Amino acid sequence: MIICPKCKLKLNKVNNAYKCSNNHNYDIAKSGYLNLLLSRLNAGDTKEMLVARDCFLKQGFYLPIVKEVASRLPDNHPLVVDCGCGTGYYTDHLAQMIPGEYIGVDISKIAIDFAAKKNKNVLYLVASNHSLPLADSSSDVLLNIFAPYSDSEFARILTKKGKLIIVSANNNHLQELKTLIYDTPHTNTDKLYFLPSFKLISEDILEYKLLLTQNDLINLFKMTPYYYKTKPSDFEKLLVVDHLEVTASFFIREYQKQN
Ligand SMILES: C[S@@+](CC[C@H](N)C(=O)[O-])C[C@H]1O[C@@H](n2cnc3c(N)ncnc32)[C@H](O)[C@@H]1O
Ligand SMILES: [Zn+2]
Repeated sequence: MIICPKCKLKLNKVNNAYKCSNNHNYDIAKSGYLNLLLSRLNAGDTKEMLVARDCFLKQGFYLPIVKEVASRLPDNHPLVVDCGCGTGYYTDHLAQMIPGEYIGVDISKIAIDFAAKKNKNVLYLVASNHSLPLADSSSDVLLNIFAPYSDSEFARILTKKGKLIIVSANNNHLQELKTLIYDTPHTNTDKLYFLPSFKLISEDILEYKLLLTQNDLINLFKMTPYYYKTKPSDFEKLLVVDHLEVTASFFIREYQKQN
């Protein structure tokens, strides 16, 4: 159930809008998404990052993540909320694989517009993971795939028996790409999640090799925050590479709420 970001009452669909009983009104955009972000700030990934991510993901390089996550979804028609869904790659695929109700949330309006144009069976919302427009204990599964998270908001909207699935990069993820570009590549240290409201149920590593062309490498690089922090002279090192084999390595962690 989605709620009004202003007064937190239930939102009901009335023609081309959603309204609460205090008459706060949110029009459905032409592409089908709903903007429930109160600030007008243009936050999140840029258009260039989104296009790069879409081109890269479309080739199926991260399909193993989709399969891993799909195998962890319950089969009782769950409400699944993808928190920080970006262009909706995982949300769309999972919605086609496992029956349920799917909501994708992202703070970037351009990402959500992009996602909403592709899939009309998922409800896409512009909102922040730090203030989710969903009712308390309303969601059976939360997905958080390479995106910011919130312990308190995730715990609030998840049902008692619900699960939170977090996918993040492992230390050696894309190590060969970093070695190519940086003189002293730093190894990612595994991001420590601060989730006091949750207990860890399982932790798995998904690791495989990818053989990437120069174009794939450029897209991959552009979809990461590294792109904006890298000197042009370092980025240009990519332009002399024809192919590169890189390690893809991810953590897949499942959590449940503490009692
Ligand atoms: C690295 S991308 C991952 C997107 C998607 N899960 C994927 O893997 O394709 C991170 C996403 O988090 C979004 N984001 C950043 N801050 C956010 C917030 N506070 N709430 C929701 N989404 C946020 C960005 O707009 C971006 O789409
Ligand atoms: Zn309201």
